[in-house]
Amino acid sequence: MRVNHCGEICAQALYQGQSLTSRDPAIKEALRGAADEETEHLAWTEQRISELGGHKSLLNPLLYAGSLSLGLLAGVLGEKWNLGFLAETERQVEAHLDSHLLSLPVEDVRSLAIVDQMRLDEIKHAEMAVHYGAAELPLLVKTAMKLAANVMTRTTYLL
Ligand SMILES: [Fe+2]
Ligand SMILES: [Fe+2]
Repeated sequence: MRVNHCGEICAQALYQGQSLTSRDPAIKEALRGAADEETEHLAWTEQRISELGGHKSLLNPLLYAGSLSLGLLAGVLGEKWNLGFLAETERQVEAHLDSHLLSLPVEDVRSLAIVDQMRLDEIKHAEMAVHYGAAELPLLVKTAMKLAANVMTRTTYLL
């Protein structure tokens, strides 16, 4: 849940960065709507961590700053790459949540419900990005994103 919470911190930063640089009013509005759901995800995961007696990742400020820079950069590259980056991020998050659903104990009903709802919302966010014209990212970029996400997942699991 600490990893998921950290992911939601990064989602905040990404959406903030992207809506700052996006120029299209309809896209800005859609980004804001998705960002609102990410704020809910952040609250759910934070609450679940405290219910479980865990702690939030020490790396959060660092990863927030990194994600904000990425969001701004993606925004500068133009709308279709901005949305393409968003769609790919959400798809990778979906895959992570899929595997998390499989590894959670069946009796942890609350965590399962949270992860499942987030998964549904992230799928919707990716579809929203595609709807507004997301470009398909080059394979190399997707692979680099997966590697980076893997490092982030492993480190926030520990720290
Ligand atoms: Fe989320
Ligand atoms: Fe999302």
